[in-house]
Amino acid sequence: MKKSAALVAAGSLPLSVVEMSFGKSSPQNFTFAYISDSHITHIKGSEFVRNWDRGLIRAVAETNLMDPRPDFVFYGGDIAQLGKPEEIDHGLDILGGLSGKIHYVMGEHDYYVDLGDYWKKQLGPDHYSFDHKGVHFVVLNSILTHEEWMHKKWPSGMDRMLQMARLDNPDGQPFMVGESQRDWLKKDLAGISQDTPVVVFSHSPIQKIHKGWNFWTDDAEQVQALLKPFDKVTVIYGHVHQIQYNQIGNISFHSAMATAWPWPYPSAYSQAETYLPKLTVEMNRADPFNERDATGWQFINMHTGNVDLNYVLPENKNRVVAFDVKQGKPVDRDYQDPAKRIPPQVHY
Ligand SMILES: [Fe+2]
Ligand SMILES: [Fe+2]
Repeated sequence: MKKSAALVAAGSLPLSVVEMSFGKSSPQNFTFAYISDSHITHIKGSEFVRNWDRGLIRAVAETNLMDPRPDFVFYGGDIAQLGKPEEIDHGLDILGGLSGKIHYVMGEHDYYVDLGDYWKKQLGPDHYSFDHKGVHFVVLNSILTHEEWMHKKWPSGMDRMLQMARLDNPDGQPFMVGESQRDWLKKDLAGISQDTPVVVFSHSPIQKIHKGWNFWTDDAEQVQALLKPFDKVTVIYGHVHQIQYNQIGNISFHSAMATAWPWPYPSAYSQAETYLPKLTVEMNRADPFNERDATGWQFINMHTGNVDLNYVLPENKNRVVAFDVKQGKPVDRDYQDPAKRIPPQVHY
């Protein structure tokens, strides 16, 4: 996809689009869109929180306007707020307006009420892989936790969900991919050649940023070790509702925006230990009076197996976080230089 066309199309889209261009013998460009974290919230009967609906409706409408068409859409998890069948169904109804194939990953808000039963019934397995035009895509359920905690005697599944559906979660548990999925991943990757670009989709970051908010995956290093043999690996995740990026060894990390609401950066919570990657230039504080501020979408161009994310931020300055081949890491094209950063707003 030509970038100019992509950016025109993205001018008002709450989604992400990915362009990939590589392949040893016959490189093929292609794009995919990425929509995430809609947190569809049921009130009662057929009533849902309208603002969260609007974010997803807009994403779907704008994705359908894209020209050329993205090859597929990826949905990054947290389709529901409390995992209720009504919420999942309502979210899927809205997403059903998309033309083309959609791949999904599980978010914790989809999972903890019934341990993913309804989500899986509607959408299938929570971890899988597929190949597309020379790229190996892997989807992992990264929001699992200790079996004993999941299966302890809860008054109800909703009590378990309410423990996990909080940003600050003193009684919650850390997310993890877990041993059985790691074994599966090892087998899945065994047949993939070292020079095949690998893209991993997870809901939580497969890196450790801030444990108290579960911007964290407890067995991140073990998953990273399985990805180490490959020349080019990118992990794209939702969950954090903000821009984050990082480079750890051969692995580039990028977050996707939410269509629902922004989260603050963990650094705003100064008493807490946090490991926001040094590379990441934080976004401006969201305007609380603008319901779409600090929500958004991104175009992702993939050049020779590395990813450039073009974030489109309504009512804010767009950003490009692009892989810099010389530096071997993603950098913010406009705002990496501290002198060029936009100071936080102070007028609220
Ligand atoms: Fe979320
Ligand atoms: Fe989440």
